Formats: sequence, C-alpha cells, structure tokens
Amino acid sequence: MKFFADTANVDEIRELAETGLIDGVTTNPSLIKKSGADFKQTIAAICEIMPGPVSAEVAATDAAGMEREGRRLAEIAENVVVKLPLTIDGLKACRRLTDDGVMTNVTLCFSANQALLAAKAGATFVSPFIGRLDDIHIDGLILIQEIRTIYNNYAFRTEILAASIRSANHVRECALIGADVATAPPDVLKALASHPLTDKGLETFLKDWASTGQSVI
Ligand code: E4P
Repeated sequence: MKFFADTANVDEIRELAETGLIDGVTTNPSLIKKSGADFKQTIAAICEIMPGPVSAEVAATDAAGMEREGRRLAEIAENVVVKLPLTIDGLKACRRLTDDGVMTNVTLCFSANQALLAAKAGATFVSPFIGRLDDIHIDGLILIQEIRTIYNNYAFRTEILAASIRSANHVRECALIGADVATAPPDVLKALASHPLTDKGLETFLKDWASTGQSVI
C-alpha cells in the first residue's frame, strides 16, 4: 500500500519525506488556503522534495478550462497529478488529459458509480472520501470495498486512493480491503507508528540497558 501525505505544508512534507515511508502528496484548494502560500510555487516546492505523485487541483468547472489549467499545472513538474472534480466536465477533462499522458486524480468521489466513471475516463487515481461519508452517517469503508470489487471485476487500472482519512483505523481497514493508496494528514500517518506497549517496552529496555553500564559502540 502506498502512503500519500494529505497536506500543502512544505515543512511537514519535508519531515515526512525523511522517513522514507511516504510515496506521494495530495493537496486541495482548502489545504492551499490553510498553508497561506502561493499555489504554483508550493506545488513546485513539494515536487522538489517528493519524487512521487503530487496532486494539484484545478479551479475551473468547465471541461475546457479544467483541461487548460491541468496542462499548466502539469508543466510545473513531471510528477504533478492533475486533480479534477468528479463531474461530467471533470471526466471529460480527465479523458483528454489522460490521452495526452498527463496523470490524473478524480476527486470528490462519493459513490461506486462515480468511481466506475472515473475508471472509464482513464483516471490514474480515484479519490473516494471516507471521512466525509462517515460525517453524514454513511460507512465510507463500504464504498472502498465496492470500488475494489468493481475495479477487480473489470481489471480497471485506476488506483483507489482512499481519501478524507481521519484515523489510523481508517488506514488499517483500507489496507485490509486492498485500497492502492491511503492519503492522510501527517498526524494520522505518524499515529500509525504509535502503540502504548511499544513506548512501555522501550522504556523498560532502556532502563535495563542503562543499568548494565555497557555501550553498543
Ligand atoms: C484528498 O485528496 C483530500 O485532499 C482530502 O483527503 C480531504 O480530506 P478532508 O475530508 O479531511 O478534508
């Protein structure tokens, strides 16, 4: 399973990249606003740190505008993935950009039928939003399961990029279902490593080691 960092904060991305555990980055207009930084400069900076796919979202809502913006974003770096909303216009732009070899991420996916269309439009990634479904009392993980089944049924190559992940448990469940990628905020990604018994065990080991008076090197 690949892990993407869901943030537009360059410092956070640099810190996570150093772990060697992160395969890409996703941004969206809200994350860009939160960063307070210039959009295109931020995407360029992220692409320098992160060689894997970096999603940058268009702002136009018509197919021609999305295609134009997508081509401009794709010029920033070769690992830019153009993020397009799951609308008919977004799917049209997705097909055109995909046919020209531009990587695409069809976002704001909330149903299996929408994911089916994204695959038919040739999307590189589809982003089903788990947390936002949970927020309205619909189990987002069922959507991931449905998409996995449909994509397997037809051998679609579009990768399932589980998004709007709010907890370590979401990541675990997505991995069990077989999502290709999980994109999560840095705090959730860090939480994957933590367990109270690891902390407790380490504390005991360090205490016992210190009492031996030995050194490893
Ligand atoms: C995905 O690419 C989105 O940026 C993100 O996962 C949205 O998450 P949210 O629902 O927590 O805003």
